[in-house]
Amino acid sequence: MKLSRRTLIAGAAAMALPMPAFAREADSLASLGAAKGIRFGSTVGKNNFADPRYRALNAAQCALVVPENEMKWAATRPDAEHFDFTGADRIVDWATANGMGVRGHTLLWHSEHWMPEWVSKHDYGANPKAEAERLLTQHVSTVAGRYAPRVDSFDVVNEAVDSETGELRETALSQRLGAIETLDIAFHTARQAAPKAQLVYNDYMGWRSDEGVHRDGVLRLLEEFRKRGTPVDALGVQSHLGSKYSDTPTGLGALDETAWRRFLDEVTGMGFDLLITEMDIHDNPLPGAIGPRDAEVAAHAKAYLDLMLSYRQIDTVMCWGLSDRYSWLNGLRPRPDGLPKRPCPYDADFRAKPFHDAIAAAFAAAPVRRKA
Ligand code: XIL
Repeated sequence: MKLSRRTLIAGAAAMALPMPAFAREADSLASLGAAKGIRFGSTVGKNNFADPRYRALNAAQCALVVPENEMKWAATRPDAEHFDFTGADRIVDWATANGMGVRGHTLLWHSEHWMPEWVSKHDYGANPKAEAERLLTQHVSTVAGRYAPRVDSFDVVNEAVDSETGELRETALSQRLGAIETLDIAFHTARQAAPKAQLVYNDYMGWRSDEGVHRDGVLRLLEEFRKRGTPVDALGVQSHLGSKYSDTPTGLGALDETAWRRFLDEVTGMGFDLLITEMDIHDNPLPGAIGPRDAEVAAHAKAYLDLMLSYRQIDTVMCWGLSDRYSWLNGLRPRPDGLPKRPCPYDADFRAKPFHDAIAAAFAAAPVRRKA
């Protein structure tokens, strides 16, 4: 008896077995992207990885996976002496077994708030600079070294620029090393540990008109990287779109497309590649009714992707979750009407939404990538 791929997937999912490696369906987002030289993917993590239906959806649609939290310091470093790779290994092994690539996120979240508390309480001893450098290099080389080459693209540094001021944030490490020096060390160490991997600076500046200070700060940082010869290959544009503010008078927030294009032109003009690393849409200000809400989210996604994919430097498009059921945005700043948010391409029951169709249409319309 010849079993269809769908039956095999359903069977494996029901038995919670690892999914078989397979070529994804021709109409999957992975295949539609691949036709244009674009790797499509999403994030999975411990809050959803146990759900076999969700794993099956990811395996069916994605060419690429990124662990949501499991590769961060908060997950891999219980303390200064130990590493714990249980969560990250599980995801990387599963992705590899299913023929998917993996992105690494993140070797350094340059934000005190998101680092484990022990990093700020650590005893940096008589030579704090040397101790901070030792901690950082040991961390980056251990994590990057463990996952290269299965991980071929790392968010080496995440969110170093303060979005309110445009300046580099201060952290326990940067207090000892200097801010730009901390970032330099992270990138140089990553290059040594994973010489073939793409090294990415990842941040959440976007195309809304109220994000100019952030965009300018990121541009200054990228210029500085170039001047210093820091080995950075690409800018990761997180793409958490929409607005968290429920009182935005203009739907998802006033946009400044001209400033956004100028920003992307300057970034690519310096020779950086671009990636979309964490796309989702915060729908707080949109109407509660599902039809109009999903339509507006989809229109926003299509307009954004059309613009972004006109840059052939983008060969990676990642969502931050495929299904509304597991989006990190549900639980964060509730909608005023208390309804669940709908930020992802699939609904809470894993049915494709108009946002999914917008991605498919944007891939269909996109020019073939430079490197395809
Ligand atoms: C988020 C995760 O989705 C949450 O589960 C966690 O509590 C906080 O971090 N930008 C990033 C991601 O670079 O790492 C964040 O992920 C979302 C914003």
